[in-house]
Amino acid sequence: MIGNFPSTRMRRNRINHTTRRLFSENKLSVDDLIWPIFIVEGNNIETEVSSMPGTKRVSIDRLGAYVEPAARLGVPAVALFPVTAKEKRDPTGSESYNPDNLICRAARELKNQFPDLLLIGDVALDPYTSHGHDGIVKDGYVINDETVEVLVKQSINQALAGIDIIAPSDMMDGRIGTIRQALDQYGFINTQLMSYAAKYASVYYGPFRDALESGGLLKGDKKTYQMDPANRAEALSEVEMDIKEGADSIIIKPGMPYLDIIRSVRDKFDIPIVSYQVSGEYAMLMGAIQSGFLKHEETILETLLCFKRAGANAIMTYFAIEAAKILQN
Ligand code: PBG
Repeated sequence: MIGNFPSTRMRRNRINHTTRRLFSENKLSVDDLIWPIFIVEGNNIETEVSSMPGTKRVSIDRLGAYVEPAARLGVPAVALFPVTAKEKRDPTGSESYNPDNLICRAARELKNQFPDLLLIGDVALDPYTSHGHDGIVKDGYVINDETVEVLVKQSINQALAGIDIIAPSDMMDGRIGTIRQALDQYGFINTQLMSYAAKYASVYYGPFRDALESGGLLKGDKKTYQMDPANRAEALSEVEMDIKEGADSIIIKPGMPYLDIIRSVRDKFDIPIVSYQVSGEYAMLMGAIQSGFLKHEETILETLLCFKRAGANAIMTYFAIEAAKILQN
């Protein structure tokens, strides 16, 4: 042997599973998971979203059975997204504050069956508008303050139906503070606000818009309200403002291509961070898994663990149930 032996061998701490387990810096657990689900009108419906293999649109009569694994496996929360019937969509998204809309009926049903499961209600107008935008459009522009007024009505409507966590995903300015005030006035002082604070105008939302059947309706893009993927400092400003306005937690979205944003926010703020591994990321991974190019379980666990390493406290993912099952074994 020529030369010196290294005095420090980094590989010693990787020598076997037990040592690696002892020293691992981050752990993924069922406690970290949020499962997004798509709810559709009608009866006896459970159809797969074609661009999201394994993810379904489910009617309310089947919702209990569909969501039961989440409750049984201990997934803390589900996020509800409605596939609003075409005839109920209009230019101002008025179905969003109908007390009998899909979200409200689903919330009452789920609260009844699974009282401990946290329900997250997405607040934005795109599932309800005939043009697919997240707000009211005037002269080709989504108008901020008028949209916020509708978002407030939508939020109160969801809180009345039993939604635990209001999650505005619309990216209008000032909506967190306005919704917080309104919730408090209505006595919902303990209804949480989980703000999509840093939400980018991303190509990765494509399959979600398929799921909601809103993609075909959308005229133009969402770049005047969702963030430019080029920007990082702007995300810190968005988060700072939402914290000041009363957000209890914030979402960064999409997930995997934006881990640097999670880390930047983590280093600067103490608020709980949720990362959203969005529909396009799911579609991409599932495509590779189904082609046999990536290993199924290992891929899910690694991608989700990396969100923890980046600094996320919780992860919204269409893989939540599969991940919970793997973690339980
Ligand atoms: C609605 C909303 C979107 C997503 C969550 N809430 C779509 C969009 O902004 O166009 C995307 C989620 C996903 O792709 O999984 N405002």
